[in-house]
Amino acid sequence: MSFDIDKIRKDFPALNQEVYGKPLVYLDNAATSQKPQVVIDSISNYYSTINSNVHRGVHYLSQKATDQFEEARKNIQAYINATFSHEVIITKGATDSINMVASSFGKQYLKEGDEVIISALEHHANIVPWQMICASLKAELKVIPLNPDLTISLDAFKKMLNKKTKIVAISHISNALGIVNPVNEIIKIAHENAIPVLLDGAQGIVHSTIDVQELDCDFYCFSSHKFYGPMGVGILYGKEKWLNQMPPYQTGGEMIKSVSFEKTTFNDLPYKFETGTPNVADVIGFNKAVQYIQSIGMGQIIKYEEDLLAYANSKLSAISGVHIIAPNAPRAGVVSFNLDNIHPYDAGTIIDKFGVAVRTGNHCAQPVMDLLNIPGTIRASFAFYNTKDEVDRLAEAIITVQKMFG
Ligand code: ALA
Repeated sequence: MSFDIDKIRKDFPALNQEVYGKPLVYLDNAATSQKPQVVIDSISNYYSTINSNVHRGVHYLSQKATDQFEEARKNIQAYINATFSHEVIITKGATDSINMVASSFGKQYLKEGDEVIISALEHHANIVPWQMICASLKAELKVIPLNPDLTISLDAFKKMLNKKTKIVAISHISNALGIVNPVNEIIKIAHENAIPVLLDGAQGIVHSTIDVQELDCDFYCFSSHKFYGPMGVGILYGKEKWLNQMPPYQTGGEMIKSVSFEKTTFNDLPYKFETGTPNVADVIGFNKAVQYIQSIGMGQIIKYEEDLLAYANSKLSAISGVHIIAPNAPRAGVVSFNLDNIHPYDAGTIIDKFGVAVRTGNHCAQPVMDLLNIPGTIRASFAFYNTKDEVDRLAEAIITVQKMFG
């Protein structure tokens, strides 16, 4: 399919509306993306036609729902190039996936005095689960410091690794600043020391092609809703060798093989990690989102987004009083910035009145804001349906804000 931006924008009904009497400019895609009509239709279609529980019934509807649910898993496996479909665990979202690994890997492999490494760029979802498991097992959470350009310091990382390091958990692309982390180098260095690596791919899946075998990451976590699918669904990819060793995260139905009052045996992968009735409609809907992205082609999407981001960088940095955070770091999908003498919340509130949706605040990444000694930023986060005209609308709104406060 050719990259036809007008046609693409028509596929996303929420984009075609006015707010405050002005055409909506949606630049909060890192918080959640808009959904194409095929995804919305799929959810409605599921509940209108095949709604029934999966893996439980021999009846027609249950089999149809199960087939579509498992087809979603297989397509996602193919999309990220996982070796086996049972390495694809359906979760509630990236946060749930990270919690699953922190808790389950932690119980199996962490003990008092061991160390877990994250980076100073992480958002709360890739900090707090590790903090909690470390606290409960008396292990230590270590944080890789940043270089002056706010990229992760690989030199510091190398020095931090030792016999006590049990896992490294890093975001692929930072949600707050858009920095693309050197994940290939991190994985290589960690693996030279026989340490597994979890990548938080909440933004990585959105702005890059993911081949988990080529990356050689041990775990890759992402959400559906940031990748044009419904909320409430996520994926944990894990190498079979780890998932087989890890204990179940939650317990109940679906994750069991047999239950008696004396003893329960656990199901095989992937079901060992999937408890209770899953979010079937949204998993099928997520598959529609992945298929939609496949029909456009991630290669074209990346090229378009890079061009759009370069335009946004030059347009915003040309406005006096605008300070882009990490201007020289490799970035994808995000321009995070501040305005001289204007609090990000004040700016964001006024920018909104121009019909431009940006996010203001710490973007669930308080420690990196503390490190920069700022209360937060204004974040414009892009999707492949955004346009240069929309960047111009943001720039106009910023200039008006400056005049109001000037
Ligand atoms: N972590 C999400 C964001 O970046 C919610 O906005």
